Amino acid sequence: MTSIAILGYGTVGSGVAHVLDENTGEVRASAHDDVRVKAILDLREFPGDPHEKQVTHDFQTILDDPEIRVVCETMGGVNPAYEFTKKALQAGKSVCTSNKELVAKHGPELVRIARENRVSYLFEASVGGGIPILRTLEGALKSERITGITGILNGTTNYILTRMDQEGASFEDVLRQAQELGYAERDPSADIEGHDACRKIAILGSLMMGGYVDSESVPTEGITRISTADLSGAREFGMAIKLLGHCRCTDKGLDISVAPYLIGRENPLASVNGVFNAIAVDGNMLGTSMYYGQGAGRDATASAVVADVCEIVRNAGSTVPVSMSADAVELAPAGDGFRRYFLRVDGSHAQEAQAAFEGSTCKTVKGADGAEEACLLTGKLRESAFTGQLESLSGVRNWIRVLDE
Ligand code: HSE
Repeated sequence: MTSIAILGYGTVGSGVAHVLDENTGEVRASAHDDVRVKAILDLREFPGDPHEKQVTHDFQTILDDPEIRVVCETMGGVNPAYEFTKKALQAGKSVCTSNKELVAKHGPELVRIARENRVSYLFEASVGGGIPILRTLEGALKSERITGITGILNGTTNYILTRMDQEGASFEDVLRQAQELGYAERDPSADIEGHDACRKIAILGSLMMGGYVDSESVPTEGITRISTADLSGAREFGMAIKLLGHCRCTDKGLDISVAPYLIGRENPLASVNGVFNAIAVDGNMLGTSMYYGQGAGRDATASAVVADVCEIVRNAGSTVPVSMSADAVELAPAGDGFRRYFLRVDGSHAQEAQAAFEGSTCKTVKGADGAEEACLLTGKLRESAFTGQLESLSGVRNWIRVLDE
């Protein structure tokens, strides 16, 4: 029997207990041992909860309990999760987590401390919710040279964009529903400003390169400036708008970013809707493979945490290897590549815009206020050249990059 503790009994933490209760036999078969929750750390009480008696308010009791071999950190945020994780690892307990903020900030150090203490630090649930993408990179794809990863990595923003696109729903209404469904972060600005996706692509980029990509160096934009008019304009060109985390090896380093992109409807990522995430991985021999599943939500995310618990228990006594180290990955200069751009301008400035971007195609659409607008798709050019031209234009309503790869 392996005893575990859960730190934080919120959406994901309560999901971990639920998955262990529901899938007891499957967990035993995977872990090669029984797994039971011995303690749950939370500031609150949970009267009536099947695990109410396991709740403690004192982390030290967990740390001092030699029976507890694995700690599931599902608190979120950097503090006190960082301190608790370090202490647990130093006390010889393995830790698995859904906390992408902590992994993105302190992952290399925590992986090293785990190794030094012959335990494991695993974070499958930190990227792609329930999609076993990290395990796939570390296992099945380990003998591939990974050249790029592109993913819809945030369920909340994908849910918002999908409902705005399909129903013309307002940003605020859909965000509120995403929060009610337990998809959004405690502070939803991390979702809508792209920081959550940024942490996830930084973790993927780190594993892909076997080093460390500091998420703070990743150029990041969210979806707050995307309107239903942009979504209708994209549709006119047979394209969808998705918030993508993207990284690609170039001869100048790793080109990595998070931003909304227009993608062709024939791209499989274009049909990934609602809270679903999908991650396309380019391997030098395999070509592109894509992984799809629920990117947020209690049970899906908890399922990934429990998969880590099972791997740790199965490998008790040794460290499960993780390809993240403190070596900084060299990053390519931002906006260096050539790409097309979508541009939306007031109808009265359509000709001027077309003249500025020779060879662009133009569609006329009705804006949200009923006024005529023009949507352009430019030819390929560098971002600095595109934004330079924009400065001389009037009537610009919005612009968005196109993913052409
Ligand atoms: N807020 C995150 C999302 C949760 O919406 O994807 C899962 O990481």
